[in-house]
Amino acid sequence: MSKVHTVSTTASDPTVAAAAAQFLSPVVLGLEALTVNGKQAHWHVRGANFIGVHELLDTIVAHAGDFADTAAERIVALGLPIDARLSTVAAKAGTSAVPAGFTQSDELVRAVISDIDAILVDVKAAIDGLDEVDLTSQDVAIEIMRGLEKDRWFLVSHIAA
Ligand SMILES: [Fe+2]
Repeated sequence: MSKVHTVSTTASDPTVAAAAAQFLSPVVLGLEALTVNGKQAHWHVRGANFIGVHELLDTIVAHAGDFADTAAERIVALGLPIDARLSTVAAKAGTSAVPAGFTQSDELVRAVISDIDAILVDVKAAIDGLDEVDLTSQDVAIEIMRGLEKDRWFLVSHIAA
C-alpha cells in the first residue's frame, strides 16, 4: 500500500499571507489601471517624438501587466485570492492623470509619470511593510520598484532638460 500524504494548500502561515495580500493588492490594482490608462495614452499621443513615445507607452503597458501578474501570483501562491476585477480597479486605483482625447506628448508623458508615481507610493509602502514579515514578498515589491523606476526614467528623459 502506498502512503497517502496530507498536502497543505500553501507553504505559508496565515499572518504572512495576510500581510502579502494587504501590501501587494494595491500594487496590483494600480498596475492593472496603468495597463488600461497607458494604452489610452499610447493611442492618443500627438506631437514631438510621436513614434518614440507611442512605442515606449506600449512597452510600459507590457511591463505593468507583467508586474501585476508577479504580484498577484505571489498573493495567490500564499493561498489568498485577489479581487482585480475591472470594477474593483476602477473603485480603488484612483483617478488617472491621463486626459481623454488627443494630447501633446510632453503633457501625456507627465500624466503617465504621475500615474507611475502614485503606484510607487504603494510599492514603497509594500517594501517597508513587508520588511519584517516576508522577505520573499518584499522581493516582489523591490523587483517592481526597480522596473517601474526604469520605465519612469525612460519617460522623464523625453521631457527633462
Ligand atoms: Fe498599438
